[in-house]
Amino acid sequence: MRAADEVAFRRALAQFPTGVAVITGLSAQDQKPVGITVSSFNSVSLHPPLVLWSLARSSRHLGSFTVGCPHVIHVLARSQEELARRFASSETDKFCGIDFEHKQLELESGARALPSLLGWTARFSCVTETVYPGGDHCIIVARVDSHEVGSAAPLVFVRGRFAGLDCDASKPG
Ligand SMILES: Cc1cc2nc3c(=O)[nH]c(=O)nc-3n(C[C@H](O)[C@H](O)[C@H](O)COP(=O)(O)O)c2cc1C
Repeated sequence: MRAADEVAFRRALAQFPTGVAVITGLSAQDQKPVGITVSSFNSVSLHPPLVLWSLARSSRHLGSFTVGCPHVIHVLARSQEELARRFASSETDKFCGIDFEHKQLELESGARALPSLLGWTARFSCVTETVYPGGDHCIIVARVDSHEVGSAAPLVFVRGRFAGLDCDASKPG
């Protein structure tokens, strides 16, 4: 695609408002906490419970989210813009200086403790089920093991900016 077309393509895509999620897991190399901000999170299936998100093929975290890898998806609250920026950065230790907990996941393969953020408005504990090729990204389909919902209004990303919901949708239904 020509550079000018790419800019226009990006601008068209940015008209679609999304939520913002931070996905956390364990590094494939040393089992240290890893995390990444995504706007590609979406629902797939209720039976079985499946969700998806996409990860750049160039990401250094690709090996941490392969089939069978457990991870936690945090849907960020409106007040968590700073956290979204931090986990979108390329800092080596994105967890340094922030409050997080270890969430226990009971998996068929045994119990695993995963790094999990605080203050989210929804949280899904997942295991990667399938990884599909998607051009310069990988589409990660994950099975939801457990989920929780909070009451805070969600953070939104639209037209390249973080925003909130300026309407009744900011209140729980
Ligand atoms: C709002 C927002 C949404 C993003 N969504 C995605 C996404 O869906 N998939 C992806 O691979 N990167 C996405 N990114 C970029 C990654 O967050 C970023 O490249 C990554 O965290 C860089 O960190 P790393 O060097 O630890 O990989 C997004 C960034 C922002 C700010």
